[in-house]
Amino acid sequence: MTHGKSGRGDAHGKAILMGEHAVVYGFPAVAVPLPEIKVSAEATSREGDDWLDCTYYRGPLQNAPSELAGLRLLIVEGLERIKWRRPIGITIRSDIPAGYGLGSSAAVAAAVARALYHLAGAPLPRETLLELVAVSETMCHGEPSGVDAQATTGLDPLWFVRGRSPEIVAIPTPMYLVVAASSQPGNTRHTVQQVRALQERLGSGTGPIDRIGALTAASRPAIEHGDYPYLGALMIEVHRELAALNAATSEVEQLVAAALRHEALGAKLTGGGGGGSMVVLAKDIQQQRQLADVLMSAGATRVWTPIVRGTGLSAIN
Ligand code: MEV
Repeated sequence: MTHGKSGRGDAHGKAILMGEHAVVYGFPAVAVPLPEIKVSAEATSREGDDWLDCTYYRGPLQNAPSELAGLRLLIVEGLERIKWRRPIGITIRSDIPAGYGLGSSAAVAAAVARALYHLAGAPLPRETLLELVAVSETMCHGEPSGVDAQATTGLDPLWFVRGRSPEIVAIPTPMYLVVAASSQPGNTRHTVQQVRALQERLGSGTGPIDRIGALTAASRPAIEHGDYPYLGALMIEVHRELAALNAATSEVEQLVAAALRHEALGAKLTGGGGGGSMVVLAKDIQQQRQLADVLMSAGATRVWTPIVRGTGLSAIN
């Protein structure tokens, strides 16, 4: 039973354009927010047990399944920080599919943290927000770089290096993207561990992670000068390196191949991989629409067509 007092919080999806996995090792990543793919959370004072209501579970918070352990921990930590002593109900509504490399876990955590602080009428400094998201992400992912927390809570395209304040990437020319989900979710904790094992075997300096780092470094001037043919070529190279890390499933490979057959400027998996989603850079809005259809015909289960216009102006058709 609810008491009436409630707080709300929102966050959104993200796509990593360049640098996933390498970003865990201190190399840069470029991430764009997907503000139209939203998560919202409501925190309500209630009677009885603490309660969670989300896509995957509806019931007492303490009985939530282990997949939601990170979220549970975040809620406990958040309640402690806001000194909330009464039973609470948390309701989460999300358009971001979980396990698709689009920032679902970070965005859910951020929306819930914001809802808790809103409920308490307490200010939520950005640093605290990021700390709370990290509580959940560390449980979900093991060693999150923090890029998802940043990109799902702000509206700027970001140049992100672990442990540093992110920089805004200037986007002088609109970027027409297609994000396509395969039929199979991935598990970021698993792929990050798999990459870690490979990286330890190869040693740093020469392997795919280092090459992704170098390709991502080259992408920033390409983005800032609007040299999208070159950016696309870099994306294709990064995809090859991610495939060498065993992060690309055959289904994602097929989607990438279909996009390139239809003359996309670039295409690669996005996020942790092991299933999940891929991102395509199109030449213009016409090709963006055409590629969205091509990817659906090639087996994508869902497509989004974001246009990234630069600071605070991202939009999705
Ligand atoms: C996940 O969206 C991106 C990874 O690089 C992990 C991370 O940065 O925490 C795979």
